[in-house]
Amino acid sequence: LYRSLHDRHNCHDDCHDPRGGSVVNIPSAYLRVHIPAKAAGAETENQAKVVQFIKKIGMKHIKVFAPGTVANLGCGFDVMGLTLDGVGDVLEVGVAENAEGFEIRNRSGMELPGNVEENVITPAVRALLEAYGRPVRIEVEILEKIAPGSGIGSSAASSAAAVWGVNELLGRPFSGERLVEFAMMGEALIGGTPHADNVGPAVLGGVVLIRGYEPLDIVRLPVPEGFFYAVVHPDIVVSTKEAREVLPREVPLHDAVTQWGNVGGLVAGFALGDVALIGRSMHDVVAEPYRKGFIPGYDQLKEGVLAEGALAMNIAGSGPSIFALAADEAVAQRVAQRMRAHFARPGIGCKIYAGRVSNCGARIVE
Ligand code: HSE
Repeated sequence: LYRSLHDRHNCHDDCHDPRGGSVVNIPSAYLRVHIPAKAAGAETENQAKVVQFIKKIGMKHIKVFAPGTVANLGCGFDVMGLTLDGVGDVLEVGVAENAEGFEIRNRSGMELPGNVEENVITPAVRALLEAYGRPVRIEVEILEKIAPGSGIGSSAASSAAAVWGVNELLGRPFSGERLVEFAMMGEALIGGTPHADNVGPAVLGGVVLIRGYEPLDIVRLPVPEGFFYAVVHPDIVVSTKEAREVLPREVPLHDAVTQWGNVGGLVAGFALGDVALIGRSMHDVVAEPYRKGFIPGYDQLKEGVLAEGALAMNIAGSGPSIFALAADEAVAQRVAQRMRAHFARPGIGCKIYAGRVSNCGARIVE
């Protein structure tokens, strides 16, 4: 049973519970709607309790994890992204068909907008329900959350987990690619432009190339064996909107040639499993030169990280997080420490993460 569910979830390697345990891919939704014999004959219960019970059994629930992601991968501005292991959002998603209503509760401890209209989950789930075309009541409880504004796909993880969970509970009416389209609506809410380089890998897992947006054409690329990341999230604020506005509207032909050479090299590097080619292709002349000014001592840090043995370093999405890739776990750990020390010098606090680049996207966890 585990293997068949695992295969259906499109995982290319073993997907473990990101918090250390094993993923139990048994859809607990179906177990929870089972009516216990004792409760079925609950004539002695008072009216209110019976109504409560009926409401509860009509609602199917699952707990879903969606991973953090690194968008752009240097040269692939808005068209490439990869999945991190061990960091992400956990949501409990509840669905009742032939009922109305939408609720989001935040139990993550992170400060999130109180108004549902300002939560990225709302436009993503609405897009899914519009396509579904039948009344569904949705309840979402946010249990664990990547720090908002980190640049490692915090908003994407929430909208990916929500649409993935709703789709599971509705019996999978939509493909992974459609889920990416729905989740993109959440990105539009915060950045003004619906891009898929975070939601693509958060839903599907692995390394993702968005070959085109009209229509959406997503290519999943293999992750090389033994491929590790280090990420630092410094305690500074860079809004996605501001980081997009700072970019020039036009790219000179010379820069365009450099950029598409590197994007081609990056895709070839993943397809061939050539980590050295991946490293030297992760060079960006479109966004990094304009965005690095938001990050204190960026060039100096990059020099140190590459000297430490990393294959490449660049800005994660629109920042302020920075990521590095390495073919060796010890290098990734050392790089993460170096990143922390870099920001500690001017007194900037930070969170660091290091781990394996993951092949697994959104999934059920217990
Ligand atoms: N591709 C996006 C950007 C990612 O760089 O602006 C941020 O959400």
